[in-house]
Amino acid sequence: MGFQIAIDGPSASGKSSIAREVAKSFNFVHINSGLMYRAIAYKAIKEQVNLLCEEKLVELIEHTTLELTPDQRVIMDQNDVSEHLKTVSIEASTVSSFPLVRERLVHLQQEMAKSLDCVMDGRDIGTVVLPQADVKIFITADVEDRAHRRTNELKKMGIDADYENILDEMIQRDNQDINRPVGPLKQAEDALLIDTTGNTFEMSAKIVIDLIKERLGR
Ligand code: DC
Repeated sequence: MGFQIAIDGPSASGKSSIAREVAKSFNFVHINSGLMYRAIAYKAIKEQVNLLCEEKLVELIEHTTLELTPDQRVIMDQNDVSEHLKTVSIEASTVSSFPLVRERLVHLQQEMAKSLDCVMDGRDIGTVVLPQADVKIFITADVEDRAHRRTNELKKMGIDADYENILDEMIQRDNQDINRPVGPLKQAEDALLIDTTGNTFEMSAKIVIDLIKERLGR
């Protein structure tokens, strides 16, 4: 069994960037589970599969191969779809609300993490995917702060982004992710809560890295 770190939190809390930094610092594999829900949502849209039909979504997953590369590219059915996933947000949240979709992707995530030193980020990693993880962290920040971060991130990528729209969508997505009955966004009882409101990315990453160093006894 490898050393496993679970990082959960709402969208744009900084969890994926922090997980990437952690992976770099400790030479661990980074598994961004949100990318997998995004990839399935992207394929469903492309193939005009009804995002509200659980049965069709499961069938689609069964005919899909998904791979995450060490540099965070997403290879789906042998194609690199990474560039298409940033804007498939609310749709990813919608497909992720179905128990059978989660069951398939959780299984895949557990297989990916098996016997690896890894850091996995998502919503249910500490509670469902890796309940036995060595370190569990729950990262949060005020929704306005997160919406500002996401707006700036998209603008930097040259994507047209309006703060008010992003804030509205983020509130909607938080609600969907928190209130779904299966695998909701939830802090595990044994997870450490880190609030990054007002922090720079460097500050937040350092807090998490120092904490893991302490746990690893380094
Ligand atoms: O982390 P993210 O914002 O890229 O995730 C996109 C959506 O996928 C998110 O709104 C909810 C879903 N998701 C999930 O249900 N469980 C996870 N472990 C990761 C993401």
